[in-house]
Amino acid sequence: MLAGKHITLIISGGIAAYKALDLIRKLRGAGARVTPVLTRGGAEFITPLSVAALAGEQVYQDLFDLKDEAEMGHIQLSRAADLLVVAPATADIMAKMAGGHADDLATTLLLATDKPVLLAPAMNVRMWEHAATQRNLAQLRADGIAITGPASGDMACGEYGPGRMAEPADILDAIAAMLGPKPLKGKRILVTSGPTHEPIDPVRYIANRSSGAQGTAIASALRDLGAEIIFVTGPASVPAPAGVRLVPVQTAREMLQATLAALPVDAAVMAAAVADWRVENDFAQKIKKTAQGTPELHFSENPDILKTVSAHEMRPALVIGFAAETENVVANATAKRARKGCDWIVANDVSPATGIMGGAENAVHLVTETGVEDWPRQHKTGVARELAARIARALT
Ligand code: C5P
Repeated sequence: MLAGKHITLIISGGIAAYKALDLIRKLRGAGARVTPVLTRGGAEFITPLSVAALAGEQVYQDLFDLKDEAEMGHIQLSRAADLLVVAPATADIMAKMAGGHADDLATTLLLATDKPVLLAPAMNVRMWEHAATQRNLAQLRADGIAITGPASGDMACGEYGPGRMAEPADILDAIAAMLGPKPLKGKRILVTSGPTHEPIDPVRYIANRSSGAQGTAIASALRDLGAEIIFVTGPASVPAPAGVRLVPVQTAREMLQATLAALPVDAAVMAAAVADWRVENDFAQKIKKTAQGTPELHFSENPDILKTVSAHEMRPALVIGFAAETENVVANATAKRARKGCDWIVANDVSPATGIMGGAENAVHLVTETGVEDWPRQHKTGVARELAARIARALT
């Protein structure tokens, strides 16, 4: 998976440093070469000897180690690898990076590098949530640094919440995504995601249970394959992916406008759960309880964005719709593909018993011109990766 790739792994000082040893094993198992750098804090948690033994390479620790400078200067060290990974990344190293400090070997390499950088933050939940860390995180993202994790869970300090370092297997996935092939480079892809909110009055709206998780995962997977992503999203409950052109909308009509404005694109993946109806007589003021009884809402049909795009004069080469069904999933999806005029339909059963709507997993059927494929139930990121790979094959 990573044969011929060279990674500089910076291990900073946190209890999660022990997981870096497993990460080194996994990276080497995937064929990568690992040059380890251990900060002073990192060396308080794991020994240079164990790092060197697992990496099969010398550990770099000190900026002013003249012997190392003679062998490989710090500028060269910062650029020799294909990727710099900081795992664990402490609040302190993130703050230093955000501020452009270079007061030890690790921070100097991170400032001098011309290669992509991936951080796997790990810290106490309060430290993670602190305004200063969140400010630094936003700055690092804006600087183009990739971030994986942190995960939520029990922490070594006895607290619970976000701050646990991503598991080595997940960090490996993130590295593979960054260094893997980019078959979609140069392609523009539109992804719609999330629910829409249709106003009843200035404070109330009609919505649905879509979290935006599947659309977000698809956008991330397509981005990882090198595509430029225009991400048109309703008010989702999961954060939007990094590294995409984000277009937030509220209503179906706004989503249609944003979608048409994004054309031309090479492919459109319409994963949004668009409200079929809007309230025609939405009220300009907040509706009050009155003696006259309950208010009457009149509905009118929203524009069908998928159908509009499928019939558009700038129709993308590949248009993919979704079908969230609660019965006769495949039959309904097959009929929907014809009715909407799209190329593929990704169909799933969203009856409450499946736990799919708003959940982490999805079991989908891919309906194409040639037939129906039943994919195994898996995490939404797995569905996304498989779909992205299929899109790459169709477009290239
Ligand atoms: O008709 P239905 O809502 O089941 O179709 C689902 C598919 O159609 C999804 O891909 C969704 O994004 C799209 N859709 C749309 N505009 C609507 C309703 C659904 O684009 N008004």
